[in-house]
Amino acid sequence: MKIAVFAGDGIGPEVTEQAVRVLQHLPLPLSLLVGDVGGYAYQRHGHPLPEETLACAAEADAILFGAVGDPRYDQLDRHLRPEQAVLGLRKALGLFANLRPAKMFGGMESASALKPAIAGAIDLLIVRELNGDIYFGKKGTERTASGLRRGYDVMSYDESEVRRIAIIGFEAARKRQGRLCSIDKANVLETSQLWRDVVIETGQDYPDVTLSHLYVDNAAMQLVRDPGQFDVIVTGNLFGDILSDQASMCVGSIGLLASASLGERATEHGTFGLYEPIHGSAPDIAGMGIANPLAAILSAADLLRHSLRQAAAADQVERAVAATLRDGVLGRDLGGDASTSQIGDAVLERL
Ligand code: NAD
Ligand code: IPM
Ligand code: MN
Repeated sequence: MKIAVFAGDGIGPEVTEQAVRVLQHLPLPLSLLVGDVGGYAYQRHGHPLPEETLACAAEADAILFGAVGDPRYDQLDRHLRPEQAVLGLRKALGLFANLRPAKMFGGMESASALKPAIAGAIDLLIVRELNGDIYFGKKGTERTASGLRRGYDVMSYDESEVRRIAIIGFEAARKRQGRLCSIDKANVLETSQLWRDVVIETGQDYPDVTLSHLYVDNAAMQLVRDPGQFDVIVTGNLFGDILSDQASMCVGSIGLLASASLGERATEHGTFGLYEPIHGSAPDIAGMGIANPLAAILSAADLLRHSLRQAAAADQVERAVAATLRDGVLGRDLGGDASTSQIGDAVLERL
């Protein structure tokens, strides 16, 4: 079972180190390949996603990804910026379905930015489309006829892109509580009207799933008013990005939310995927040893489940994380004082 480890920038290496410790603690025949991504790769190879790294990804059954992003490189041409590593991997590997679960951990209700009674009911899954939308449309800057600078990014989806992510959403809802909420901006955007039409059409094959629709502005409000109303959310790349960071604070910290990015490729051991925390490289705390590694560790659990078909091991890791939190081993993000490595230690002990 080959895992490519791309730790990246900032806190990426710090949290990934703890996730790797957890994986290595398991009695599984894992071999780890290491690759450079992000600003770190730019510094060493002159590109955020070097050929060597892509070759490494192609050889692996799954990728464990840390984070990319470095303020030193924010002024580079866009194609050379650290973020292109993760965008490039998602696109090149056809990883169009990004699953971002948000669930309250027992005993952590008071860590939520919401009132504990409201936060306690959170158990939702955001299914975010990852290969299209405004992220991958034509973009540029130019001069207008009157000499003003103008920037543009084209938002678009074709129906096949919407249908395949809608199917992921319906299938996920079918395995959970049978409720799918599609989030769009169909009252304003043509892209969203097509999105809504295609989701409704796809729903004809899922009479057992209750489909609802929300405009994204209302959805942002509902997510803090009553997050317990959501089972599965399906939405586009941009809205899913924003709503998932918001969902993380409903649960208590962005340091708790993992994600799995999946496509259609099967490997010997399961579905090929890329696994990463939803957070970024957090330059403000990088190098301080205080980042919460639980999102990275939970991403490793997702990797075990989806790409290696090791559901029992994945459950064990998730239980060890839940126990770590229940026992009050908390990082600064959750009001405690445990360091990154102390949180890793605590998970390993419970594992
Ligand atoms: P961020 O997620 O890196 O950080 C936002 C805030 O949350 C910061 O205050 C940070 O300290 C805190 N935080 C994040 N993760 C944490 C953790 N594990 N433990 C404790 N606190 C944590 O978002 P940002 O500051 O907007 O972006 C920083 C850089 O990361 C940018 O270059 C951005 O492009 C990049 N980014 C990369 C990814 C990715 O690699 N997938 C995701 C998001 C942002
Ligand atoms: C994420 C990040 C990325 C995104 C950036 C770094 C390209 O915010 O993984 O959520 O917008 O998808
Ligand atoms: Mn994001």
